[in-house]
Amino acid sequence: MVKVAVAGGSGQVAREVVDALVATGKHEITIFSRGPAPTAASVSGVQWQAVDYSDKGALVEALRGTHTVLSFIQLLSDPNQTAQKNLIDAAISAGVKRFAPSEYGSRGLDNMAWWEGKQKVREYLEEVNRNQTAIEYTLFQPGLFLDYLAFPYKTAKYLDPLQCVFDFKNRRAITVDGHEDAIMTLTTAADMAAIIAKAVGCDGKWPTNGGICGNRVSVAQILEIGHRVRGRPFVVEKVKSEDLEVGELKTSWCLEAVHQAVPDDQAQALLKAVCIGTLLSSSKGAWESSDEINKLCPEYEFTSAESFLSRVWDDKP
Ligand SMILES: NC(=O)c1ccc[n+]([C@@H]2O[C@H](COP(=O)([O-])OP(=O)(O)OC[C@H]3O[C@@H](n4cnc5c(N)ncnc54)[C@H](OP(=O)(O)O)[C@@H]3O)[C@@H](O)[C@H]2O)c1
Repeated sequence: MVKVAVAGGSGQVAREVVDALVATGKHEITIFSRGPAPTAASVSGVQWQAVDYSDKGALVEALRGTHTVLSFIQLLSDPNQTAQKNLIDAAISAGVKRFAPSEYGSRGLDNMAWWEGKQKVREYLEEVNRNQTAIEYTLFQPGLFLDYLAFPYKTAKYLDPLQCVFDFKNRRAITVDGHEDAIMTLTTAADMAAIIAKAVGCDGKWPTNGGICGNRVSVAQILEIGHRVRGRPFVVEKVKSEDLEVGELKTSWCLEAVHQAVPDDQAQALLKAVCIGTLLSSSKGAWESSDEINKLCPEYEFTSAESFLSRVWDDKP
């Protein structure tokens, strides 16, 4: 049993992990939130701690006795990542053993300005650990949530559907010309949550690179799966990397569904940027996760992309 604090634990991805931690029946879990505990829908066995991320002293007190901190803090609303940096400082002062920053995405971050906060926190963790290990940490990286290939259908308990460049509903996709062999890691939110819960229970040292590899597939293989589960080939629009590099997206369609954390006035610009950034970064291998966490929990069986997508799309028009 370890005492786990889940910062930003009220969020969508965090709640998947909190449920998986609860399901182990092994840990003492506290959600850190800037707000008061909800009156309804509280999870049994989970404590709620209202925190002010600008008050380091109070954070240290709140973290006393905590073994592991998992952060799911939304990066977009905190451009300097002050909340996560203060949380790291407080965790070190309180003697926390392990820390996981708000990652849960791609290994590489180039071309994805909306995730530059992740890079800032990676650099901060390197800095605080430069001379000696101040805190053990891992960057949990499951790649893209496989659930997003089920858009607009919801396949996870809390994670909302989000559109991506593989549009299974309309049997279409956008790819980068000449980069069909680029590898993408696709992992269901449920698998990511379950294996993180297992990693929390592991005694050994956490690896810094926390690659989680549910499925390792090329862009071409995703299109082949799409063909099989949707019954006919996708209409593929191929774009040139040179165009993407200068911010041009020459396609007949773009992403339309935006993450709930994005303000309305920024949605259109961000959707185009996310489309361009995801395409460019994937063509450069940023979405190919490693498998350090798989190795930590070798008995864990991941959901295969083809069986998951076959199930989702089996009865859909
Ligand atoms: N791989 C993928 O495909 C993928 C997809 C989605 C998300 N992700 C990653 O998963 C992580 C969590 O994302 P999410 O969508 O679950 O996040 P979210 O629900 O938008 O936000 C998580 C929590 O962050 C807290 N928060 C928001 N603004 C804050 C601020 N300024 N300071 C401190 N806390 C703040 C909020 O908690 P309180 O209000 O309770 O304090 C919120 O519930 C992120 O790192 C994201 O990049 C990855």
